[in-house]
Formats: sequence, C-alpha cells, structure tokens
Amino acid sequence: MISASAPAKIILFGEHAVVYGVPAIAIPVSSLRATATVEPQAAGSGLRIHAVDTGRVLSVGLQDEVEDALVEMAQLVLKRLHIPAPDASITLRSDIPMASGLGSGAAVSTALARALSSAVGKPLEAQALNELVYEIEKRHHGTPSGIDNTVICYEQPVYFVRGEPIQPLHVGGTFHFIIADTGQASLTKPAVAAVRALYNENKTFVENILHEIGKIVDEARTALGQGDAKALGSLMIANHALLQSLTVSSPDLDRLVSAALDANALGAKLSGGGRGGNMIALADERNHDSVTAALYTAGAARIISMTLS
Ligand code: MEV
Repeated sequence: MISASAPAKIILFGEHAVVYGVPAIAIPVSSLRATATVEPQAAGSGLRIHAVDTGRVLSVGLQDEVEDALVEMAQLVLKRLHIPAPDASITLRSDIPMASGLGSGAAVSTALARALSSAVGKPLEAQALNELVYEIEKRHHGTPSGIDNTVICYEQPVYFVRGEPIQPLHVGGTFHFIIADTGQASLTKPAVAAVRALYNENKTFVENILHEIGKIVDEARTALGQGDAKALGSLMIANHALLQSLTVSSPDLDRLVSAALDANALGAKLSGGGRGGNMIALADERNHDSVTAALYTAGAARIISMTLS
C-alpha cells in the first residue's frame, strides 16, 4: 500500500492580477491535506479511484469520454510514464474545503498523481508533477495562472510569475496568520471570468489596478524578507481594497476583514478567487486570540492559525 499527500495553499498577495502576468506570493497550508492511498488488486481488476468526500467511484480507462478531472489526472500520469493502468484501487480523501480558495482541486490532483506514480515505482519529481497538474487545472478551471499547482507541488512559499520558473521566497521573521472561511462556497472560474469581463470593458481602469497590485507584491516580498509585520499588514489592506475594485470581494469577506482590523489585526484581505471562500488576517502574538475571537463573532465558519517563519 502506498500513500502520498499534498497541502492546501493560500495566496498572500496578487491573486487575479497573477493571471495577467503580475507576480504573486503564495504559501502552502501544510496542516490541511489531500491524501491518496493506492492498494494493489487482483490481476484483471483494472484501476479504480474512490473519491471518499464526494462518494464517487471511477474506473480509469473505461470511460474515456467522461470529462472527469480525477480520471484525466490518472490517465495523464500513465501516459507520461508510458505504462498501462495497474490493477489497483486509489482512495482519495481531503480535509481541504472545496471551492474556498485553498486549492483543493490542485491538491487532490497532486496527491493522486504522486501516489499513482510512486505505486508503479516511477515517482514523479516536483517539476514533472507540476506540469501534469497544471494541465488538469487548465482543462477544468478556465485560464489558471498556475500558482495553485506550483505552490502545492513544491510545498514551499513562492514568489510566482506566470510561465516563469518558481522563485523561492525569503522569510526573515515570524508572521502569525489567521485564515477564516466565510462558509460561502465560491468557484474560482466565474470570478476570474468576471475580472476578464471588467478588463474587456475598461482596460485602462483594470490595468491601473493590476499595476498597483504588482507594486504591492514587490513591497510585500521585501517586507517578508525583512520580517516587517507592520508593513506587511498595511500592504494586505491595500491589496484588499484593489480586489474590491476588481469586484471579487463580497459582503461576507468584507465583514470578516473589517472585524479583524477592528480587533487590531495588522492587516487583512480576501484570498484566492474571492466572492466567498477564505480571507486571511495578520496578527501579532499579543492579539492573535482576540482577532480569532472577533472573526468567529463576525460569522467565520472555520478558522486555521498558521505561523510563517
Ligand atoms: C486562485 O487561487 C487564484 C487566482 O489568481 C486564479 C489563478 O491564479 O489562476 C484567482
């Protein structure tokens, strides 16, 4: 029996703008994971995937016409490794909430590809894995920048520019983040499409915003490197305002952001596709608990604390 896993991710700066070539910063959330377990089966059984969270059982190879991301992921791995489907069952489980900006789709694909390639004795390296998972992201999520699969496959903080090799991120201090879920599921694809529509309608307006976000991302990279939590917090607030202008915030996200700031968080912003899903706040050691309490009072459905150092 072979098991492999992959983490969730959270975008600290630059979501949406990253689709247009602006840099972005993202970090893995290693406490939330998708896991795939491969068990050998009797000869002739074929390859089956059991997605426990959605209650689906899928046969790989028997339903080429079905556009299913999990089946396609398995097929891509087998094709890349030039091997037929093994007689095995793959069980998938994930504790990453779906459609909430935490990269659940990319994490499940990564865990599946990692476990399957290991089970056939040809474990894929991060770069090959990343290419394959990006292929699935493109087929099923519109026009993704590739940031989700990259931070998830490499499981390290990244400064990411679309189409470029990853640049590791230097973190020169300790940052206390609080990730809060609005409880409102929201798919990334329509949010990305809405920003595209806005761009097509008013190119100059959106390009100005993208430019401002790019400056924030670079300043954030410096603040992270210098361990400057105060500066980082201000940059989060500025990034959230620009995301509001791009129409990807929501009343729930704005309420959680305001609650965190009212409780003296250093910064707060939505994270990921927006219009629901998660926000992220930056606290210091002293007010971490009061910011967490304020987020629950404001209606957060679930909270994860995370230290970056
Ligand atoms: C989604 O996690 C981040 C977005 O920037 C989309 C993308 O980068 O593909 C909204």
